[in-house]
Amino acid sequence: AQRKQIDKVLALFQLTREQLVGVQDKMRTELENGLKRKTHPMATVKMLPTYVRGMPDGTEKGKFLALDLGGTNFRVLLVKIRSGRRSVRMYNKIFAIPLEIMQGTGEELFDHIVQCIADFLDYMGLKGAQLPLGFTFSFPCRQASIDKGTLIGWTKGFKATDCEGEDVVDMLREAIKRRNEFDLDIVAVVNDTVGTMMTCGYEDPNCEIGLIAGTGSNMCYMEEMRNIELVEGDEGKMCINTEWGGFGDNGCIDDIRTQYDKEVDEGSLNPGKQRYEKMTSGMYLGEIVRQILIDLTKHGLLFRGQISERLRTRGIFETKFLSQIESDRLALLQVRRILQQLGLDSTCEDSIVVKEVCGAVSRRAAQLCGAGLAAIVEKRREDQGLEHLRITVGVDGTLYKLHPHFSRILQETVKELAPKCDVTFILSEDGSGKGAALITAVAKRLQ
Ligand code: BG6
Ligand code: GLC
Repeated sequence: AQRKQIDKVLALFQLTREQLVGVQDKMRTELENGLKRKTHPMATVKMLPTYVRGMPDGTEKGKFLALDLGGTNFRVLLVKIRSGRRSVRMYNKIFAIPLEIMQGTGEELFDHIVQCIADFLDYMGLKGAQLPLGFTFSFPCRQASIDKGTLIGWTKGFKATDCEGEDVVDMLREAIKRRNEFDLDIVAVVNDTVGTMMTCGYEDPNCEIGLIAGTGSNMCYMEEMRNIELVEGDEGKMCINTEWGGFGDNGCIDDIRTQYDKEVDEGSLNPGKQRYEKMTSGMYLGEIVRQILIDLTKHGLLFRGQISERLRTRGIFETKFLSQIESDRLALLQVRRILQQLGLDSTCEDSIVVKEVCGAVSRRAAQLCGAGLAAIVEKRREDQGLEHLRITVGVDGTLYKLHPHFSRILQETVKELAPKCDVTFILSEDGSGKGAALITAVAKRLQ
């Protein structure tokens, strides 16, 4: 009887092929709506023009600074690009962004960023150098050019005040001025998906999609100019930052959202927003697991019916723990040990159930992400009037990189749902900073 109750909960996360096709179709509709801003001003998939119009061609060169803000780590980088040989050398330093800064005032946040830049310049012996800077800023921005980006709204774990509706490049410039110690030429603001596509595109020119499956979930791709209502001109292509994390914010996938998804949403910093992201990305998967475990415990199906203080604590299941728990090489005893580390006292039975719950949640995430990707590759295939499309996706993010099954299930799902597309996935080894520097190099040349 207990087993039946557990299976009933797990079944909520098992999507049928029809349901996945449904997600793919709806994503396709929302992508199209987002491109038609004029007729669909409220579209939930924002489809933001990035003013990036092409791939690097190998002639880029120079020394650049890059910032990489919004993933697990905040980095400051120095990127040296040599033309011709396509060789890039990078130096970087990771800095912490304390919670009270992520959720403090905008001024504090940008002052902190500039402090980190100052430390880095010092460390590299570059004090006083006046370098062009590319800013990877992994949040939705409305851009009117490559060096302007108005923050539409914070996502993930950020919630600094007085930033929404402001140009983040201006905010950075002002913070640099306040410090009055060095001058930097901020040339480009870039989403992490775009930086990732560029990083991978430097190696493989067929790379026309960037995917992040990390703390957050997002995708960008090269779109025909003629399909982008918001930007003048019909020639060539431009990269669109889809911000697909907001897919479902109009309720269009509520049929597959569970009570646990709703609880996670309600307990988040941005209730009602980023519903697809909350079903597919690292910041939230552990929270879904936790909600399920609480529910199972309440029904006496786990942890001897005792909800510990630990289990009540938000954020205990980070992506790295999920990844460890689901690793096939791990004996159940080790799963128990991980749970113990997390402060959860479990029996052997418990650890089996926890592992199953993690598996169900991450599998659904990978499938949903795959259905989204299938929608975009099919769109690209049809737009180009091709019987068959070959395309490369550049990918980054801890969920994709660390989780033992996520990437495989994602790829299988794309194959299944977009059989006429031959999709190659390449991992971004160097992060998005390299791509941001390449974009900066191109923008600098055009300036
Ligand atoms: C990094 C990129 O490698 O991956 C970042 O350089 C990106 O720009 C990040 O935001 C995404 O992954 P995560 O898991 O750190 O959010
Ligand atoms: C969130 C952000 C988006 C970013 C993604 C991955 O969805 O809104 O801009 O690309 O996370 O970091």
